Amino acid sequence: MQGIGISELVERFGTPLYVYDGDVIVQTYRRLRAALSDAVEIFYSLKPNPNLSVVRLLNRAGASAEVCSAGELDSALRAGVSPADILFTGPGKSVEELQTLVGLDVRAVICESFDELARIDELSAKADKHTPVLLRVNPAFGVRGGRLTMAGRPREFGIDEEQVLAATDLLARHPNVDVRGIHVFTGTRILDAGVVVENTERIFDLAVKVGEALGFEPRLVDIGGGLGIPYYPGEKELDLDVLAAGVNNAVAEFLLRFPDARVAIEPGRFLVGPGGVYAIRARYVKWSKGERFVITDGGTHQNMAAVGTGTYLKRNFPMALLSDMERPAAGPCTVTGLLLTPTDTIGRNVELPEIAPGDVLGVFQAGAYGPSASITYMNGQGFPAEILVRQGKAHLVRSRDTTEDLFTHQILVDFDAGAGAVRAEVAAAIGAAPESISDSARLFHDLGIDSLGIIDLLTRLEDRFGLVVEPDELYEEVFANVGSLIDYVVANAR
Ligand SMILES: Cc1ncc(COP(=O)(O)O)c(C=O)c1O
Repeated sequence: MQGIGISELVERFGTPLYVYDGDVIVQTYRRLRAALSDAVEIFYSLKPNPNLSVVRLLNRAGASAEVCSAGELDSALRAGVSPADILFTGPGKSVEELQTLVGLDVRAVICESFDELARIDELSAKADKHTPVLLRVNPAFGVRGGRLTMAGRPREFGIDEEQVLAATDLLARHPNVDVRGIHVFTGTRILDAGVVVENTERIFDLAVKVGEALGFEPRLVDIGGGLGIPYYPGEKELDLDVLAAGVNNAVAEFLLRFPDARVAIEPGRFLVGPGGVYAIRARYVKWSKGERFVITDGGTHQNMAAVGTGTYLKRNFPMALLSDMERPAAGPCTVTGLLLTPTDTIGRNVELPEIAPGDVLGVFQAGAYGPSASITYMNGQGFPAEILVRQGKAHLVRSRDTTEDLFTHQILVDFDAGAGAVRAEVAAAIGAAPESISDSARLFHDLGIDSLGIIDLLTRLEDRFGLVVEPDELYEEVFANVGSLIDYVVANAR
């Protein structure tokens, strides 16, 4: 990749490893940018790959951002995207998220229900703002062409077209929102350019209809994302020329009626998928009932995209032996990972050469919906390392989780935290038998614990009982005697 051998990266950063080709990401963005009319703005959807450096790379290349949570919003902001270049989607936004959005002056909040609109209106009134909003519409037209359709049927996303069209007093009832247009996301993994064009034309028609019914002029129409990339044999790349010709034509017609309108498109997978390789190392090779299994140090907990969230692998992502591209094929094998479930299949009946432990395999087209879309912590595993290669230089953009990372947010309950356990700790600190220490024994005078000894004892109690002793809580009464100390520890133990 860009003159750097994958084996060199694997040597340097270990496995399992995601490697993203930053040059391919930027070239893909530029190809799409060049193909589309100037009236179309590209908002990179962070869902498939929210890594800060990937977002920064795309933003530097000119992309705006589409986000769907406080976490993604923060990712975009940290990566350097300005609030005015951010769209925020999602059917379940919290009050806190909406409050932040109202205050931030993002490009638009994509509103997914009437209740949410009322909430945005209320928060905007309080903040003395006029918040820009796009209404996400679940269109009445059946959507075809996507591998996962997200509209045109009962869905939690958006507001049904019929309901939007009937809500003719919506703007009057919400004077603190500025409804600028509509948003439709039809589905993901669309590989047929004709379908994208057809969906776009329908979305513009719908924008006109909704504008007329509600009494506003569309100024921003978001035609969604969902542009596909080929994964499986027989699949072809989306024809960008056909897509651009049709979409640009539809945009031009729309602009004839609304010359100042802008159009948003929010692709994710299309921009970051092709430049990604998931590199994993074979640990064991074995045979079971006539089938060859290659057991690797990776797994579906890190590349859910290839499996389909929560399902079995149906078809293989493109895959190869990276450590020796010349070795001849030696028949089919099943490539698995570390999880204790038969669903942990990375490739089934993959034609691969003889594999030896230590060999490195690569899964291609892997830059989208990888670690961030996976069940990374399953079976005590964690995030793989992620590398972004840009202009011939490899950057570590996320380090591999260590075992310690599994515990950063866990709290171990000490079920034994009680008077007896605290007494035992105090006794151990002074080398006495627990039963020899009465509640009335004074720490200083009777047990001879000096101030340094008290600090040692406190540290011991903090470690054992998950206690956090604030210095301003160190009242003398707490240390009056063993009984008062026990009461304090028991009351404050986690
Ligand atoms: C609202 C919205 N926008 C954009 C995307 C990105 O889709 P894709 O990666 O298929 O382009 C998604 C994916 O689920 C989405 O839900």
